[in-house]
Amino acid sequence: MKKISLISATPLADAPTIGLTSTELLIAALFVFALVALLATFIMLKALKVMIKEGDKPMPLVKEHQPGPLDYLEWAKLKKAKPNVWSKLLSLKPIEEEQTLLIPHAYDGIHELNNPVPKWFSILFYATIIFAGGYLYYYHIGNGPMQDQEYVAEIEKAAKDKRAFLANAAEKFDENSIKLDGSMIANGKAVFMTNCVACHGDQGQGTVGPNLTDEFWLHGGSISDIFKTVKYGVSAKGMASWEKNLSSKNIAEVVNYIMSLKGSKPANPKAPQGEKYEDKSVKDTVTNESIAKN
Ligand code: HEC
Repeated sequence: MKKISLISATPLADAPTIGLTSTELLIAALFVFALVALLATFIMLKALKVMIKEGDKPMPLVKEHQPGPLDYLEWAKLKKAKPNVWSKLLSLKPIEEEQTLLIPHAYDGIHELNNPVPKWFSILFYATIIFAGGYLYYYHIGNGPMQDQEYVAEIEKAAKDKRAFLANAAEKFDENSIKLDGSMIANGKAVFMTNCVACHGDQGQGTVGPNLTDEFWLHGGSISDIFKTVKYGVSAKGMASWEKNLSSKNIAEVVNYIMSLKGSKPANPKAPQGEKYEDKSVKDTVTNESIAKN
């Protein structure tokens, strides 16, 4: 058996307080109370109506039996009187049939009806007893985590998830945040060699696709433009969108590699295509050194 102590239930000093303030609890309780009162009122109203009706003209307990074969009208009436889903669900018997439920004993003239609860209700009832047994065994005899332990485990998991999320977010790149980063060129070259050589040549000189080493660009020559072209592709012109097949980090790497090719003057370059792109804001920060290294 484990003991629950209020102190151990708050294992972290700086943990945020969860739960409701006493005012909120009070309001919730009042709300529930009002709801129950409303329900009770409705039920009492209904009972009152039935009582008034019964007082006016009491319904006979046993229907007068009419002998003789059923005619069509009677048959139709009987058919219509089939119990509806609601009374079936609650195994309610129509008041005319109550006679058949009478248990043959009486106390001071008071009779009792044999009116058992519906089967589904009994099943549910016994199921809760079995569940309670299992619950008691798992949490209080076995090793099931108590509330305070669960709380600690959840806090730990949240901290782990947060670390993983932050680590993952650092790996995300897009066209707005992409920056020149010489340290990515080596990986970028590998990505290029596996995915892009077929159409852009092993030195980016261009074959099916355009030359990536000159100053002419069909879709813009800024790092952000190139990132966009690689990410979204130009599907109508045979340049695939790489968003699905490469991680954003891989795209950032290959884009940095392409930026490093500028002015590398490969043999047999493809003729320039597009417009000349001049970037005045960035003075080529990718050094010749990093190109030579690769
Ligand atoms: C199936 C052939 C093919 C492959 C593979 C391919 N490209 Fe392209 N790429 C093209 C074509 C064709 C164009 C020209 C699109 C146009 O005319 O608009 C192009 C255009 C480009 C451009 C824009 C050039 C400009 O002038 O604006 C860049 C950047 C580019 N590709 C990068 C890559 C990268 C990086 C890879 C590898 C991840 C790659 N491509 C893989 C065919 C390809």
